[in-house]
Amino acid sequence: MKLKCLVLGCGKMASAITIAKSQKEKTIEFYCYTPSKTSAKILAEKIHGKVMDDLSSLNSFDLILVACKPQQFAELAEQINHKIASHTIVVSIMAGVRVEQVISSLATPKVVRIMPNTPIAIAKGVNLVYFSQDLSIQDRELVHSFFQDIATSFDVSNQDEFDRLTPIVGSGPALLYYFFNGYIQHLIQNGIEANLAHNIVTSVFAASAHFAHQADRPMEQLISDVTSKAGITFAALNVFEQKDLNKLISQSYQAAYHRNHELNLK
Ligand SMILES: NC(=O)c1ccc[n+]([C@@H]2O[C@H](COP(=O)([O-])OP(=O)(O)OC[C@H]3O[C@@H](n4cnc5c(N)ncnc54)[C@H](OP(=O)(O)O)[C@@H]3O)[C@@H](O)[C@H]2O)c1
Repeated sequence: MKLKCLVLGCGKMASAITIAKSQKEKTIEFYCYTPSKTSAKILAEKIHGKVMDDLSSLNSFDLILVACKPQQFAELAEQINHKIASHTIVVSIMAGVRVEQVISSLATPKVVRIMPNTPIAIAKGVNLVYFSQDLSIQDRELVHSFFQDIATSFDVSNQDEFDRLTPIVGSGPALLYYFFNGYIQHLIQNGIEANLAHNIVTSVFAASAHFAHQADRPMEQLISDVTSKAGITFAALNVFEQKDLNKLISQSYQAAYHRNHELNLK
């Protein structure tokens, strides 16, 4: 039987998820909705889906992906609350919005909170997953199987842990790109051609991340494997140490964590 999936909000993240999924699996029936219908039409075309003209009838969906911004959710919830069938699984990817809030705003019991990230666009996402208690084992399997070929999923047992990991999973790609870009811009300013700078930096970081992921050695060991006393790497790392880069990283993490908390309270 074909899975019927309604996509509410068709921006960057919904597109990344559904385009990747539609490339892996052709049998899902996607329905797309945004208030203006413009992005819904664009996405529907890419995933061979249909555009939903209105949200009056939601009975037939197996999955509903809530992918609007947290601050747009109240308006959406007003339109669809009490209309979702009790068997339908609602997958919310909204940052900072707790499962209880989605359950009460939509008046539906089966809600999964997921924190995805943009590498899902190339089927290499990393998801945090938190299930509300009303999801059966079969429901959980359905959610896992939806994501399994486009992301590695980590189930977390409570939302405090979910919130602590969100700044890494959701924002992590942008944090690393910021770092990459610092090196790319520096190389360009020092005469390296832009494409070469981009390709070298992303290749080195991609290979290093892959290596670190596979190696069964702690990060400190991996660092020291590259660092000889008074050598080139030592000189570079010394500047990080002097400027206390780790403190900056902690402060940046805390800022993201607090923002997530503020979104929780809205
Ligand atoms: N971007 C990321 O890296 C990332 C990572 C993890 C989680 N998330 C979460 O993913 C969600 C979407 O983020 P995004 O970056 O994809 O944002 P986005 O590109 O701005 O997409 C938001 C979408 O929601 C639509 N929308 C607005 N009001 C709506 C309503 N009342 N009902 C239904 N749809 C509505 C917008 O329509 P229009 O196109 O017409 O404006 C747009 O298509 C957010 O909750 C965010 O926290 C994002």
